[in-house]
Amino acid sequence: MKFFIDTANLDQIKEAQDLGVLDGVTTNPSLMAKEGITGRENILNHYKKICEIATGDVSAEVIATDYEGMIKEGEELAALHERIVVKIPMIKDGVKAIKYFSDKGIKTNCTLVFSAGQALLAAKAGATYVSPFIGRLDDISTDGLNLIAEIRLIYDNYNFETEILAASVRHTMHVLECAKIGSDVMTGPLSSIEGLLKHPLTDIGLEKFLADYKKGNS
Ligand code: E4P
Repeated sequence: MKFFIDTANLDQIKEAQDLGVLDGVTTNPSLMAKEGITGRENILNHYKKICEIATGDVSAEVIATDYEGMIKEGEELAALHERIVVKIPMIKDGVKAIKYFSDKGIKTNCTLVFSAGQALLAAKAGATYVSPFIGRLDDISTDGLNLIAEIRLIYDNYNFETEILAASVRHTMHVLECAKIGSDVMTGPLSSIEGLLKHPLTDIGLEKFLADYKKGNS
C-alpha cells in the first residue's frame, strides 16, 4: 500500500519523506489555508516547493467548479511539475474534466467521494486515483471502511486501473484496516504514519538490550 501524507506543511512533508516511506502528497484548499498560503501565485509556488521535497505524486486541487474553468486550471497545475496530479471534485463537470485529462494522459485524483456509485463513475471516466473520505463518513456514523471494501470489490470485478486512495484517514487503525481491505493508497496526517512505529514492548526490549550490553562491556 502506498503512503501519502495529507498536508501542505513543508516540514511535515520533509519529515515523512526523510523516513523513507512516503509515496506522495495530497493537499486541498483547506490545508493550504491552514498553512497561510493564499493568492494564486503563492499557491502555485507552494505546489512547486512540495514537488521539490516529495518524490511521489502531488495532488493539487482545482477551485473552479465549471468544466472550462477546471480544464484551464488543471492544465495550469499539471504544467507546474511532471508529478502534479490534478485533483477534481466528484461533480458532473468534474467527471467530464476527469475524462478530458485522462484522454490527454494527465493524472487525476477524484476527490470528495462518499459512495460506491461515485467511485464507479470516477473509474469509468478514467481517474488515476479515487478518494473516498473515510473519516468524514465515520464522523456521521457511517462505516467509512465499508466503502473502501465496496469499491475494492467493484474495481476488482472489472479490473479497473483506478487506484483507491483512502482519504480522510485519521489514525493508525484506519491505515491498518485499509491495508487489510486492499486499498491501493492511504493519505493521512503524519501522526497516522508515525503512530505505526509505536509499541511499548519495543521500547522496553530496546532498553533491556542496551542495559545488558552495557553490563557486559563496561
Ligand atoms: C483528501 O485528499 C483530503 O485532503 C483529506 O483526506 C480530507 O481529510 P479530512 O476529512 O481530515 O479533512
